Amino acid sequence: MGRRYPLFSYLILFVAVFFPNRLLFADNLSCLICHESLKGTYVTGKGVESSLHVNGDKFAASVHGDLECTNCHVRYEDNPHSLPEESADLALNRIAEAIAKKSPVDPVAQAACSQCHPDIYEEVRQSVHGVNIFQKKEIDGALCLDCHGSPHEIVHAADAGHHSSESPVAYGRIVETCGRCHEKKSVSLKYGFSTKIIERYDESFHGKKYHLGGNDLPVCTTCHGAHNIRAQSDPAAMVYGANKIELCGQCHAGANTKFVAAITHKPIGKDNPIPYYAEKGLILLTFLVISGCAIHIVLDIFSLIRQAAQVRRRRRNEVARNESSVAG
Ligand code: HEC
Ligand code: HEC
Ligand code: HEC
Ligand code: HEC
Ligand code: HEC
Ligand code: HEC
Ligand code: HEC
Repeated sequence: MGRRYPLFSYLILFVAVFFPNRLLFADNLSCLICHESLKGTYVTGKGVESSLHVNGDKFAASVHGDLECTNCHVRYEDNPHSLPEESADLALNRIAEAIAKKSPVDPVAQAACSQCHPDIYEEVRQSVHGVNIFQKKEIDGALCLDCHGSPHEIVHAADAGHHSSESPVAYGRIVETCGRCHEKKSVSLKYGFSTKIIERYDESFHGKKYHLGGNDLPVCTTCHGAHNIRAQSDPAAMVYGANKIELCGQCHAGANTKFVAAITHKPIGKDNPIPYYAEKGLILLTFLVISGCAIHIVLDIFSLIRQAAQVRRRRRNEVARNESSVAG
């Protein structure tokens, strides 16, 4: 390399001396020399709009800071890139082909997650989100980066119950992360989900306390899982039928069939009777209390007026009596 790219070697030496924290792998540096300075979005040769910027510091601090760029971008072997049509690894290619619509910039890179996280990849592939992408050939379901964020900035998720974390899958941020899709009316309508799932969660006993900073409340992933999420009609789903007794029972000792029916994301209405009647009851109670107060006040005022009138009448009678006694 030294002979073919003498200038390039000097550049690496320069960076190594003046920016030692940037000295990841020499290879990474050779990618970052261009990709740190590329800013804004570009329409690439493949016609995909993408930000070509990679933050080297954040990458170095990420869980993958020790990896080489080419561990994921396996086709980018040379610098500047020349893209061979096929990569050597057939299994990788097969996954890349299946997710090409979902991951248009470099599908091989998102397929490469499977090489180091094979069990998780398989779980996701069989989940309701994975089936959406791999079998239905849609692009709406969630793949790794939809939940974990930028592939170059993945950090450890903080411990359960933690409310401040940079990781989008941490306890304090997961509702927001699932909400990025499940809040969308278009997604709910297309797949027949209740609209306003997030709003309903936020209004629930659980959601209210969670947003107040509670750390023992169930969040989306507590009840649905993360990589293994199944449709509610799937017997393997944590929220399928009687499985709910085990789910709720983790925290509510003695949960029974009646109790577990208390959680649903359906809009409050006849399909969702418990909060429906609870709310109606509350409105009735409020009405009764307020009207009770009003009646009480009216009666009070009425009796005050009557009292005042009586006093005045008594006084007038007294004056009249005094006058008549003076006259007499
Ligand atoms: C000489 C500058 C330069 C270097 C060095 C470089 N890149 Fe790029 N890279 C670019 C440019 C310019 C584009 C946009 C290409 C296009 O229009 O498709 C790009 C695009 C990409 C893309 C987006 C997908 C695509 O092809 O459109 C990836 C991924 C990528 N580079 C990874 C890497 C990796 C990994 C390395 C190191 C092995 C690297 N690059 C080194 C300039 C560079
Ligand atoms: C852990 C795997 C992984 C590593 C390591 C990695 N990338 Fe990526 N990178 C990805 C994935 C996945 C994408 C998104 C592919 C897509 O959306 O189709 C991506 C996208 C990109 C893009 C396109 C623009 C963007 O941000 O979406 C560039 C450029 C890029 N990577 C460069 C690099 C460089 C430079 C390095 C090394 C410093 C690196 N990558 C290391 C997985 C990785
Ligand atoms: C070359 C192997 C390799 C590849 C490829 C790879 N990872 Fe990792 N990943 C690791 C290692 C090693 C760790 C553990 C790092 C540690 O514990 O410090 C890790 C950790 C993680 C974590 C854990 C964060 C936490 O909470 O602890 C996530 C999430 C993750 N990787 C996602 C991905 C995704 C998404 C991709 C594909 C874009 C990917 N990985 C590709 C090796 C890899
Ligand atoms: C639907 C959202 C979602 C998708 C899709 C997703 N993850 Fe995760 N992932 C999570 C959550 C939530 C956690 C748990 C974080 C915690 O520790 O609390 C997690 C944790 C992880 C971890 C660290 C903990 C562990 O179990 O080892 C790795 C590694 C990981 N994911 C990799 C991946 C890979 C690779 C993909 C793509 C095949 C992927 N994830 C897809 C939500 C998701
Ligand atoms: C306390 C447990 C629990 C929590 C927390 C929870 N869910 Fe659910 N979820 C359920 C149950 C139970 C069902 C089945 C609904 C039914 O039986 O009517 C369900 C159903 C669903 C459905 C499919 C049916 C529908 O109503 O649209 C989706 C999508 C969903 N949940 C997403 C989420 C998201 C996103 C979050 C986080 C904001 C979340 N859930 C939080 C228990 C929970
Ligand atoms: C990228 C968008 C996206 C993200 C992010 C996402 N989902 Fe989904 N989710 C979908 C789509 C689309 C479907 C419908 C897939 C289908 O039926 O083919 C779905 C289906 C579901 C279902 C199955 C509902 C049923 O009963 O049919 C549940 C439960 C669910 N998601 C929970 C979650 C949770 C929990 C998270 C966060 C950890 C999450 N989702 C993140 C898009 C997303
Ligand atoms: C991770 C633990 C956890 C799980 C799992 C869980 N809950 Fe809760 N739930 C709580 C906590 C904590 C509270 C608040 C208790 C309090 O402060 O009164 C709560 C409160 C409630 C309340 C309000 C009334 C009461 O008993 O305090 C209902 C109803 C409820 N949960 C139903 C359910 C149902 C139904 C499920 C299963 C679909 C479920 N929960 C799953 C932790 C959990």
